[in-house]
Amino acid sequence: RGGGLVDRYGRVATDLRVSLTDRCNLRCTYCMPAEGLPWAPDDTVLTDAEVVRLVRVGVEHLGVREVRFTGGEPLLRRGLEGIVAATSALRTHDGVAVRTALTTNGLGLDKRAASLAGAGLGRVNVSLDSLDPQRFAVIARRDRHADVLAGLAAAVSAGLAPVKVNAVLVRGVNDDEAVPLLTWALAHGYHLRFIEQMPLGPHGSWVREDMVTAREILDALCAAFELDAEPDGTRGAAPAETWRVRGYPGATVGVIGSVTRPFCGACDRTRLTADGQVRSCLFSREEDDLRGLLRGGADDAALAAAWRTAMWGKAAGHGIDDPTFLQPPRTMSAIGG
Ligand code: GTP
Ligand code: 5AD
Ligand code: SF4
Repeated sequence: RGGGLVDRYGRVATDLRVSLTDRCNLRCTYCMPAEGLPWAPDDTVLTDAEVVRLVRVGVEHLGVREVRFTGGEPLLRRGLEGIVAATSALRTHDGVAVRTALTTNGLGLDKRAASLAGAGLGRVNVSLDSLDPQRFAVIARRDRHADVLAGLAAAVSAGLAPVKVNAVLVRGVNDDEAVPLLTWALAHGYHLRFIEQMPLGPHGSWVREDMVTAREILDALCAAFELDAEPDGTRGAAPAETWRVRGYPGATVGVIGSVTRPFCGACDRTRLTADGQVRSCLFSREEDDLRGLLRGGADDAALAAAWRTAMWGKAAGHGIDDPTFLQPPRTMSAIGG
């Protein structure tokens, strides 16, 4: 009885990622099919109060220290500010305020960055794959480049620092943008991270040979910038490896090499989907239902126990390189980024 979210390999999950909706207003090719997906029926999506209840169980009973809200697109959730405020008010069992963060595509962030900061939000990570509006529209399948830039500027004004920008390079579309994106991020003070594309989009769409690798991105960056590795140990459980950019005090650039430089051995994550399922890993093929327990009247201790059981079974790694690898049934937008 009691204790945190430990798995059989000894990893401890202290970072909770909560998906607030499976819907999105973009259709990025590596994430969702053009036609969208069958959305989760409304009555299966956790209410604001249910989300806060489960987050509280995570923080007060299970050692969660950081809560990141994701989607789909979390800004589509009307009650986001209230959920953030209630989460920010939580204290861990040893009295520490929980850290909150948001991963968003940035659409509408211009109007809500200030209210989110006021609700206690700590940080935002915003996705932006290209500096060119037309290329952006090819990848996101929507012509909303300017909205993202406005959202980023508002995040800075609201003090949601450091603002991180996530970029996925797609072969044949924006694979020549590593250097331009970093130049732009340095000028604006954004912390840029490049992400290797993972097999979590529309089934059958991921082609390993087409993936722009961490190595390729670093080679391109090193031809234009002098990068200094961060001291050993700074990565911790973070998926990004980061480098300091010489000549730009305080600036870093990161690469999230989930596929070619996996970090599963240090993983500290647990996930909750918008419909109330625990996922022990992005790549889990099984989920554990907390919504049913919650709606059936389970108390905090019973919810915590079910969550611990779910995490105990976390796989050692994503297994993308195994010949028997199968991507999970749900795709990225339905899992939560
Ligand atoms: P911070 O470093 O705390 O700012 O957050 P983050 O990088 O974990 O969060 P973000 O939501 O911005 O995620 C960025 C990318 O990291 C995602 O698109 C994924 O590609 C990758 N990522 C996040 N969590 C995991 C994970 O648990 N496993 C793997 N393999 N990749 C992850
Ligand atoms: N591989 C890697 N990253 C992905 N994202 C969405 N789908 C994928 C994928 N298949 C990224 C988005 C966003 C983050 C939450 O996840 O670009 O930055
Ligand atoms: Fe953690 Fe799974 Fe991601 Fe590996 S793939 S880092 S185990 S969530």
